[in-house]
Amino acid sequence: MESSGFRSNGGSLLKIKDFEKEYREKGAYHHRLEGFAKWWTFDNYRILAAWVENEGRTLDLACGDGMIWRFLKTSAIIGVDHAPTGLDHSRQFAGVPLVQADMKALPFKAGTIRNTVCSLSFQYLPGPDFERCLHELSRIMIKDGRLAFSYPNARSGRDEALSHSALPYKELLAGLRKSGFRPAAVRGISLRMPSRLVRWSVHPVLKPLAGLYYRISKIARFFPGRSYHYALCCLNTGEGIRS
Ligand SMILES: C[S@@+](CC[C@H](N)C(=O)[O-])C[C@H]1O[C@@H](n2cnc3c(N)ncnc32)[C@H](O)[C@@H]1O
Repeated sequence: MESSGFRSNGGSLLKIKDFEKEYREKGAYHHRLEGFAKWWTFDNYRILAAWVENEGRTLDLACGDGMIWRFLKTSAIIGVDHAPTGLDHSRQFAGVPLVQADMKALPFKAGTIRNTVCSLSFQYLPGPDFERCLHELSRIMIKDGRLAFSYPNARSGRDEALSHSALPYKELLAGLRKSGFRPAAVRGISLRMPSRLVRWSVHPVLKPLAGLYYRISKIARFFPGRSYHYALCCLNTGEGIRS
């Protein structure tokens, strides 16, 4: 396999989060988000869900506890995650078929998936693993199938930069193209919220003020390069499987 073009791992990657431990300790935490975490995560789900076509099979890659399913219009969803406890939690919420697998080795036949949605998860794959995953997706997805995913802005890092691997935007786009995915749309979600306002967003009295700031911060929709996280919709050109 030729290199897809990811030159780096996306910065100072120290330790990828242990999600199995996270789900054991916190339960189905995406279903209990509050304040800023809930506002932007749910907006992220809405943006991705709007890009998913209501036809064919939709893979929810790294589905975790399956929170995005509430937002998807299609019912032909297959959830994939490597964390068994995350999958156990997701079982409580919907009768979606689940597969325990790694994003780098997807146990599906070629050309059988129309849409893939991957919310807030590609950043846990360092560059070479991300490349392998895109190769797999290019193989299992139909030509012109849609890959909708959200991703952290490499520039908005700090604490998170230690537990995930955000590639710079240009490098991400170049890697996607070389892996056979043509970016068709990009949208910012919201600006990063100052930590004081994040605290206010769960405060019974100050929450409305934080909410006002959040609504204004959604101007980032037009400036993905400034957004805390952004969302991308790509089409599978089918070229990736040849490399
Ligand atoms: C931040 S959570 C996002 C969960 C869900 N997509 C959402 O947005 O609500 C990241 C998910 O990626 C999964 N994950 C991370 N690395 C993975 C890998 N190599 N293969 C499969 N799943 C992985 C984790 O288990 C976790 O459920």
